[in-house]
Amino acid sequence: MPTALVTGPTAGIGLAFARKLAARGFDLVLVSRDADRLSSVADELRAGHGTAAEVLPADLASDTTAVEERLRDTARPVDFLVNNAGHGLRKPFLANDIADEEGLLDVHVRAVLRLTHAVLPGMIERRRGAVVNVSSVAAWVPRGTYSAAKAWATSFSEGLASQVDGSGVRVMALAPGFTRTEFHERAEMSMSGLPSWLWLDADKLVDAALRDLNRGKAVSVPGAVYKAAAAALPRLPRRLVRATGRRHPDRHRR
Ligand SMILES: NC(=O)c1ccc[n+]([C@@H]2O[C@H](COP(=O)([O-])OP(=O)(O)OC[C@H]3O[C@@H](n4cnc5c(N)ncnc54)[C@H](OP(=O)(O)O)[C@@H]3O)[C@@H](O)[C@H]2O)c1
Repeated sequence: MPTALVTGPTAGIGLAFARKLAARGFDLVLVSRDADRLSSVADELRAGHGTAAEVLPADLASDTTAVEERLRDTARPVDFLVNNAGHGLRKPFLANDIADEEGLLDVHVRAVLRLTHAVLPGMIERRRGAVVNVSSVAAWVPRGTYSAAKAWATSFSEGLASQVDGSGVRVMALAPGFTRTEFHERAEMSMSGLPSWLWLDADKLVDAALRDLNRGKAVSVPGAVYKAAAAALPRLPRRLVRATGRRHPDRHRR
């Protein structure tokens, strides 16, 4: 059985990835902080798909060592890595503690970098495997550390996709738009004003991402609205794109 390691599989997009990959015959290694929720997801996957599901509780903001060791274990190779775990910050840069800003970079950048670096050599040696880094359409809009981290994830993945071309291994950035998950509630963001047509469904998002990966795309942007946004944003005058960052009411608050 091939094995997939998914970070952040206890909710939202990561849970959808874990379920879809289990349905496609992958065994799962499940990584996030909440050990009880990880066990429930593992039980669900074992019962529903006969999947071997391993739980590896870890806070990716502070220590990725155990996950990196698991990814380097050649006796139990990982064929599919989904770097998905993440969170948002409701307040703007100047209103946040530096620890929160740095913690965001630790999860969205440092952990993604380290886990990808740990898994790729074995994949290339075995001439098979895939890495999906969950980025965001926010990568195309400069709005603080979150957007900057996602711009890094998209650029990093695109660069690696070229580097591994022809090796039998694929790397892809997945750039979702607004998706119904626990993300906004956890960050205490009020989303009541967002029109329903802008919301994506996590299951459909992951189906589209897996299709794009099979087609060899380096960046997947599911949904017509977000495809159009991703195509248009880099072509707009930068001052217009920057103007979106000026709207935050707390932007000068310390
Ligand atoms: N929802 C959206 O609109 C949207 C749009 C674009 C991109 N994204 C990106 O999609 C990814 C998944 O987000 P989601 O929307 O599915 O959010 P979610 O429903 O809140 O799920 C987040 C997952 O990440 C895990 N996680 C968070 N911090 C972690 C840490 N420090 N260490 C380990 N695991 C951690 C959580 O598990 P535990 O609590 O158990 O640790 C949970 O399983 C994120 O990278 C996010 O930036 C989301």
